[in-house]
Amino acid sequence: MSADFQNWAGNCQARIETFLDSRLPATDCVPIRLHKAMRYSVLGGGKRVRPLLSFAAGELAGADVGRVTVAAAAVELIHAYSLVHDDLPCMDDDILRRGKPTCHIEFDEATALLTGDSLQTLAFELLAENRLSDSAETQLTMIAQLALASGSRGMAGGQAFDLDSVGKTLALPELEFMHIHKTGALIRAAVMLGARCSSRLNEAQLGKLDHFAKCVGLAFQVVDDLLDTEATTATLGKTAGKDAENNKPTYVSILGIGQARELAEKLQYDADRALDDFGETAFRLRQVTEFIIKRKF
Ligand code: IPE
Ligand code: IPE
Ligand code: MG
Ligand code: MG
Ligand code: MG
Repeated sequence: MSADFQNWAGNCQARIETFLDSRLPATDCVPIRLHKAMRYSVLGGGKRVRPLLSFAAGELAGADVGRVTVAAAAVELIHAYSLVHDDLPCMDDDILRRGKPTCHIEFDEATALLTGDSLQTLAFELLAENRLSDSAETQLTMIAQLALASGSRGMAGGQAFDLDSVGKTLALPELEFMHIHKTGALIRAAVMLGARCSSRLNEAQLGKLDHFAKCVGLAFQVVDDLLDTEATTATLGKTAGKDAENNKPTYVSILGIGQARELAEKLQYDADRALDDFGETAFRLRQVTEFIIKRKF
């Protein structure tokens, strides 16, 4: 990736880290164990891809960066919660996340459950407490959009489908349905919330962005499936080979590595085409897409 992108991404990552650090309850505040677990699960790790997408979409739309930071933090909190629960023994049963023991290993299962619950509600607290749009109606739309993306018709629903698919061979449309929900929904919300922090885009432009986000969201999980087979535990910071071990249907198990890689590249192409009308203003979104497709972890 170019030095310019690395510099921009580094700034976004630092901004989101500082903001999250300032909004997560302090560890001297009771209940101390829960607050420690929340901070442990959110801070100091992760690629922050969803915030990068929010910032890039916000830049495209000419949004205020302070507003985008709040929206990006809310999406990242939902994401962090989803990882804490995803790693629980009743789900993927993982012991390593972001290069550290998973929340339930470092703390305990009940604390991990409550950590997820608390991160989720903190996300909505942030969205409700801060001004995100000049229009109160738009702000409510944004809150509803993140709620929908997180719940049973979004991420949590995708996770249910994922668990139900263990040991099965899914047809391609079913696999796509699962990935679009468990991962794509939140990525879509990251892009759309970032863009809606500005009121400059019209409905047709928001529609184009949404199409872009759908392609990127699916591509993200295709690459995650690829990395699970191709990368090492040390590079990933999470246990490699876990999908096969857990008998999960993935793009790799169904298409094989070569075709899954081709699909990721086709989705990158489709994502780029959806941005055509935006010209130069979409250059950060294109860079983040490239990062998502080419990443090694
Ligand atoms: C991993 O997400 C879980 C999926 C939705 C595939 P990321 O790869 O974004 O994880 P972090 O935030 O960088 O750790
Ligand atoms: C997780 O998908 C998706 C969510 C957490 C919603 P995975 O189970 O593939 O994520 P990793 O590989 O454990 O990060
Ligand atoms: Mg999972
Ligand atoms: Mg998992
Ligand atoms: Mg995975």
